[in-house]
Amino acid sequence: MSRLKNRVALISGAASGIGRATAERFAAEGATIFAVDLQEQALAETEAALREVGATITTALCDVTDEGQVREVVQRCLSQFGALHQLTNMAGILRFDHFHELSLADFEQVQRVNVTGTFLLCREAVPALLEQQGNIVNAASTASLQGVPWGAAYAASKGAVLAMTRAIAVEYADQGLRANCVCPADIKTPMTSPTFPEGADLRKLGRLRSMTGVRGPEVVASVIAMLASDDGAHITGEHIRVDGGALA
Ligand SMILES: NC(=O)c1ccc[n+]([C@@H]2O[C@H](COP(=O)([O-])OP(=O)(O)OC[C@H]3O[C@@H](n4cnc5c(N)ncnc54)[C@H](O)[C@@H]3O)[C@@H](O)[C@H]2O)c1
Repeated sequence: MSRLKNRVALISGAASGIGRATAERFAAEGATIFAVDLQEQALAETEAALREVGATITTALCDVTDEGQVREVVQRCLSQFGALHQLTNMAGILRFDHFHELSLADFEQVQRVNVTGTFLLCREAVPALLEQQGNIVNAASTASLQGVPWGAAYAASKGAVLAMTRAIAVEYADQGLRANCVCPADIKTPMTSPTFPEGADLRKLGRLRSMTGVRGPEVVASVIAMLASDDGAHITGEHIRVDGGALA
């Protein structure tokens, strides 16, 4: 499939997990990739893997919580490729704490990466995306939709990402810009080997488990590619669970 031919996509969190798998999938569908992350070595591995299959890719180190860095990478992408058609925000962090022990600093750090980082990239990219009638896919979570024990900071952030994405979708729908979320669960990535707090009774995770087992990040990347392509042309303000039926 070449659904993303002649499209430029900026992907955050592209050094690992779902972000890297999305870069690979988008490249396989013909997109030009501008990949950003904090992790220098791992980002270089994403770049090397994509170049090996003939993809056009540029990478840039970027802390998505830093307004200046975010502005700079969006501008670099535009000056290098001349346009931006698609933004995928996959940069994110997860932590588990007993709620009553969650420090303000840790709570705020999760909001800063997951919410502020997503906000900054969306805000900087929207003017360019509007020019192309492009689209955004953000990383929400099943934690946006159902209670997750020990995950208050993460759940608050992912609820915010979902709400923000809907707001963007409604605000710009009449100008042809679409914005959607994926809500993954049980996708095997470095993020899903979390440390649970001491004494956590894992039975409380209950139905939050996928019924089809743990899957690789490519199962989310394929859904993101659909939303990013014209196959998703009539989908905006939507979230799609990619959770193996966990919340079915
Ligand atoms: N894996 C799952 O089951 C799952 C479930 C629900 C939601 N998600 C969401 O999907 C997204 C991708 O998760 P993943 O599982 O691929 O995790 P991952 O840890 O493999 O990848 C996250 C990437 O984000 C990058 N990152 C973190 N902070 C950053 C910052 N400040 N600036 C730039 N980059 C930063 C990391 O370096 C890493 O490469 C996340 O937003 C996550 O919350 C994942």
